[in-house]
Amino acid sequence: MKKIIVNVLVLGFMTLSLQAYDQVERIQDMQTMEAAMAQIQKGVLYNNKKMALQGVENLKKASSKVEVAPKGLMDYSTVFAKKQAANIVKYSDKMKSNIEANQKHAAATNYTKVLSQCISCHNKIRKWSQ
Ligand code: HEC
Repeated sequence: MKKIIVNVLVLGFMTLSLQAYDQVERIQDMQTMEAAMAQIQKGVLYNNKKMALQGVENLKKASSKVEVAPKGLMDYSTVFAKKQAANIVKYSDKMKSNIEANQKHAAATNYTKVLSQCISCHNKIRKWSQ
């Protein structure tokens, strides 16, 4: 019984924290991911491994919330969002290994794969304005 109450509480908190992720935070995380992508490219172009790896870390950190699908006009399914988030992490990990192994072409390939995840979700957003 005690366990059930605890589980219900935990579930409640989880639901609350999911709902608490609002549009303002989403935009912040999106901008962080955009900056991280730019940092990765810069790191590769300037031969600065540390900069590129830091960009990958920033990207992974900010992408952890992508899986929360918004409720409202910009809606898409949670299943889709989770898949996109998992792919971003997967290709980021590959990029990390590539950068560590000085494989810039391979890093660029995985960079493009990450970008494709961004684009395929953005293409789903009905209210994309400009
Ligand atoms: C699963 C869906 C999804 C994925 C994947 C996704 N985005 Fe977004 N993105 C959104 C939504 C929704 C918005 C619009 C937010 C709003 O205006 O409320 C957005 C907006 C943005 C914006 C505009 C922010 C602004 O200031 O208006 C940028 C930049 C951005 N995303 C970058 C990225 C990058 C970089 C990636 C990939 C690493 C990415 N996004 C992946 C859903 C996604």
